Amino acid sequence: LGASSTVRCEASMYKQTVETVDLDWDNLEFALLPTDYMYMMKCCQNGTFSKGELLRYGPLELSPSSGVLHYGQGLFEGLKAYRKEDGSILLFRPQENALRMRIGADRMCMPSPTIDQFVDAIKLTVLANKRWVPPTGKGSLYIRPLLIGSGAVLGVSPAPEYTFLVFVSPVGNYFKEGLAPINLIVENEYHRASPGGTGGVKTIGNYASVLRALKKAKENGYSDVLYLDCIHKKYLEEVSSCNIFVVKNKVISTPEVNGTILPGITRKSIIDVARGQGYQVEECPVSVEELLDADEVFCTGTAVVVAPVGSITYLERRQGRVWEQRSWGRVSTTLFFTYETTDGPFRGQDGVDN
Ligand code: COI
Repeated sequence: LGASSTVRCEASMYKQTVETVDLDWDNLEFALLPTDYMYMMKCCQNGTFSKGELLRYGPLELSPSSGVLHYGQGLFEGLKAYRKEDGSILLFRPQENALRMRIGADRMCMPSPTIDQFVDAIKLTVLANKRWVPPTGKGSLYIRPLLIGSGAVLGVSPAPEYTFLVFVSPVGNYFKEGLAPINLIVENEYHRASPGGTGGVKTIGNYASVLRALKKAKENGYSDVLYLDCIHKKYLEEVSSCNIFVVKNKVISTPEVNGTILPGITRKSIIDVARGQGYQVEECPVSVEELLDADEVFCTGTAVVVAPVGSITYLERRQGRVWEQRSWGRVSTTLFFTYETTDGPFRGQDGVDN
């Protein structure tokens, strides 16, 4: 366990025999499979979360006037647990998610669990649901921490009570394409975020606002939507569920974290991995022209991991351009494998059960 953790578990618990639920592990999708337990912890006026508890996974009791229901005062996180070949379970950098939730909570006027409370809650929830962690190489256990204004309000104000929840679901690849390249469409009408807004934190409203463009994109056969900045309509922001990278002449560029894009934890890890492999990585404004002129494009995210991009459609096919990538994945595949084997779950690891 990490030095800061107070959770203690038996190292031998399931190293010898790994028991998992009876699932078709070869065909996991990124879809909710309800598991056994969830974690819940509450916080009232004093800003301090009391001791939480594990509960059977199930519906919540919530006031109809909870702040989250009508004013959207809520944040979520996403991280993963992986099973190692010896049966033990690893978390990927949970402290990073804990810190990001604290920063987001501050923006949304919410109290948040301490880093230790967050990490301990994750470990307890994963352990309680350990039979749902997929076998090595078959997927991962997606962990969804949630922080919501659960107290009742009527006027626009922070809620008087907050609930921190953690639930989990075994998942496979995020995109139906699996590890094959995805097809993006650049969105020219709707925007995901604006300067001074909440685009840089993982608040629930950011995701509700992308649904309409995403639905339309999927109906037209695209995998996801790439957003542009709302002032110039020229610079890349992010995809609905992940960050974006372009590669040109062996230089990797990605939009800088400036308050309108999410500071992805996989984004940060891939930047480290790429620099470690000798690539020049620039965090800077990246224009659509640079995107369409790129040698390679890929996305990163916790759910997505690393997804090569096979095509980009800009300004619709008839008036605009379609960028098609025939030699996709040269750089991103190398980064993905380095991340997946030595630099990702296994270097940034935090053991759940050892
Ligand atoms: C994640 O990668 O964990 C995300 O938050 C994306 C999610 C909206 C599916």
